[in-house]
Amino acid sequence: MSESNRAAKLEIDGKTYELPIFSPTVGPDVVDIRKLYGTAGVFTYDPGFTSTASCDSTITFIDGDKGELLHRGYPIDQLAEKSHFLEVCYLLLYGELPSPAELEDFESRVTNHTMLHEQMVYFFRGFRRDAHPMAIMVGVVGAMSAFYHDSTDISDEWQREVASIRLIAKMPTIAAWAYKYSIGQPVVYPRNDLDYASNFLRMCFAVPAEDYEVNPILSRAMDRIFTLHADHEQNASTSTVRLASSSGANPFACIAAGIACLWGPAHGGANQACLEMLREIGTPDRIPEFIARAKDKDDPFRLMGFGHRVYKNFDPRAKVMKQSADEVLELLGVENNPTLQVAKELEKQALADDYFTDKKLFPNVDFYSGIILEAMGFPTSMFTPIFAVSRTIGWISQWKEMISDPQMKIGRPRQLYQGETLRDYVDIENR
Ligand code: ACO
Repeated sequence: MSESNRAAKLEIDGKTYELPIFSPTVGPDVVDIRKLYGTAGVFTYDPGFTSTASCDSTITFIDGDKGELLHRGYPIDQLAEKSHFLEVCYLLLYGELPSPAELEDFESRVTNHTMLHEQMVYFFRGFRRDAHPMAIMVGVVGAMSAFYHDSTDISDEWQREVASIRLIAKMPTIAAWAYKYSIGQPVVYPRNDLDYASNFLRMCFAVPAEDYEVNPILSRAMDRIFTLHADHEQNASTSTVRLASSSGANPFACIAAGIACLWGPAHGGANQACLEMLREIGTPDRIPEFIARAKDKDDPFRLMGFGHRVYKNFDPRAKVMKQSADEVLELLGVENNPTLQVAKELEKQALADDYFTDKKLFPNVDFYSGIILEAMGFPTSMFTPIFAVSRTIGWISQWKEMISDPQMKIGRPRQLYQGETLRDYVDIENR
């Protein structure tokens, strides 16, 4: 972070305060308000953090106007095309693309941590069968701190590293077991001769009674979905992880907090909500009715999979996802899938409508991911758990960056209090 020689001037009641301006390597300048309360006695007001940088980071950069997403400087479309998920994990976690030897070592470390402590099976069994897999994941990931005591001391760099590898490695096992439990099938143990995506597909779809062959096309599509969701700078769940860990809480508890936040329909739950919406629309002739509802101020309905807090142009991940949807559905022989037809027509009609273009509402990554996941055989309830598996690396990389920063402070926002002023307690008989 470099301080430029410019300063912003803020005038309050005739007094002027100078606020330093920092220049990032790329992106808009940032006004430093850290000393504002101390010098001027005022807070800033920014609900939803629409104009506030909560940290400095070197991991991910988004240019929402251009529709650009970079991980450590590398564009997401190049990573989705040329790289694969575990290599992107290495890049996010350590800052550079690995050499062949570094990648082999990293993959072997992740692979050797895929099993869960056997006692954890009883944890799954404690849930109702109809529990949402996200509910199970929040509980089981939080419970990891009760099983892996030797990686909860955040002041120990080695323990931080072990916790990171454990979370990346075990999250697919946890998500797959949550699914197996919900459909009443026995859990499938990980196989370390398979790559990350193939292993996840096998743990979700294999049964002990039959051999299971992983389809390489589906495995590639799964890996791409993981890659496209790996990190997205200071989004709601990542900020939740950072805020939770700022108190010094252990990494498993913090990632469980991130999973809880991701569950909401405005965030990770959007792909489930989007597919349900496309199914409800059902046929292209009903699209105008739903577009009219989305535009109606008195109707809370929104086009799910449309709009983004940061992207005011096409979400670059949506472009890759759309291409993947076409490929997967064609290879599975379901290119005439009615949901895909509705999605394509809805996208066309919305993008030709001034309401959406004026508000810069474009399809986001979730618009097409649900269609691919459904074609692969996943129920909608597994969409957000799959997002959680992918985003774990982003949460961990951001957590690790924050913990390693000597300037780390507990996160403690201020407020604009609008409540009652001081008043005396009134005894119950006098109310
Ligand atoms: N359909 C219809 N109108 C919309 C939509 C939508 N999907 N999204 C935003 N708008 C409208 C709002 O009504 C608002 O209109 P107004 O200015 O007339 O009041 C305007 O666009 C701005 O909307 P905000 O909610 O203020 O924008 P914000 O940046 O806070 O919200 C969000 C972004 C939450 C993603 C929103 O676009 C939305 O709810 N989209 C649908 C859910 C979704 O797809 N979420 C996935 C996000 S991506 C991810 O998490 C991976």
